[in-house]
Amino acid sequence: MRTAAVVPAAGRGERLGPGGPKALRLLAGRPLLVHAVQTLGQVVDVVVVAAPPDPGAVDDVTALLAPEVGTAQLVVVAGGATRQESVRRALAALPADVASVLVHDAARPLAPAALARSVLAALEAGAHAVIPALPVTDTVKRVDADEVVVETVDRSVLRAVQTPQGFRRVVLEQAHAAPGADALEATDDAGLVERLGLPVQVVPGSEEAFKVTRPLDLVLAEAVHAARAA
Ligand code: CTP
Ligand code: MG
Repeated sequence: MRTAAVVPAAGRGERLGPGGPKALRLLAGRPLLVHAVQTLGQVVDVVVVAAPPDPGAVDDVTALLAPEVGTAQLVVVAGGATRQESVRRALAALPADVASVLVHDAARPLAPAALARSVLAALEAGAHAVIPALPVTDTVKRVDADEVVVETVDRSVLRAVQTPQGFRRVVLEQAHAAPGADALEATDDAGLVERLGLPVQVVPGSEEAFKVTRPLDLVLAEAVHAARAA
C-alpha cells in the first residue's frame, strides 16, 4: 500500500495581505506550494494538491508542480471555500491503494522532510492519528468580551499544533464524513478525528514548520531559507 500527502493550497491568504493566493506567493523566488510539495515528494508516493478555485488554476498548478514531485505521483484538484472542503475534495481524489495520508498546509513551506517521516513512522508504529506540536512559549490568558483577563491558563499542558498531520486513510475519511463535520470550521484535521473519540498521538514538532500567516512570517521564512542555503 502507498502513502500520500494531501496539500490544501486553496486559501486566499487574507492575513498576508494583497498579492494573490498565498500558496503561490514567492519564497526565495518560488511559490510556497512548490517548497512544500518538493519536500513531500521525497517522502510519500502520491501528492494530492487542492489548488485555488480560480479558472485554469488546476492546469496551471499541475504544470508548476509536475517537475517538482520527483518520483511521486501528482494529482491536482480544485479546492473549496474552506480548508476542510479543500481537504475533502483532495481525499476524494486519492488513489485506491493509499493506506496512510499526511495532510500538510501549503502555507508551511519549510517543514522538514524529517518531520513528515517522523509522523509516518508513528503511524507505522500503530497510531491512528498523529500530529506534530510544540510547547507554547508565550504566557496564555483567557479574556472576557471586554478584553479583561479572566485567568492565566496553565501552558504546560498546551501544545501549538502544526502539519504534516498523519492519519490512517479510513480514519481521516470517516472523520470528514461524520455527521455534523460539515458544519464545523475545523482549522485542522485532527480536530475532526477527536470528535470520533479516537486517540490523537502527539510527536515533537519542528520550529521550521511554522505557518506563513502574516507578513512577518514571510520575512522569517526568507531568513530561514537563506540560512539553510548558506
Ligand atoms: N486552505 C485551503 N482552502 C481554503 C482555505 C485554506 O486549501 N478554502 C489552505 C491554505 O491554502 C493553507 C492552509 O489551508 O495552505 C491553512 O490555511 P490558512 O493559513 O488559514 O491560509 P489562508 O486561508 O490562505 O489564509 P487566510 O486565513 O489569512 O486567508
Ligand atoms: Mg484561512
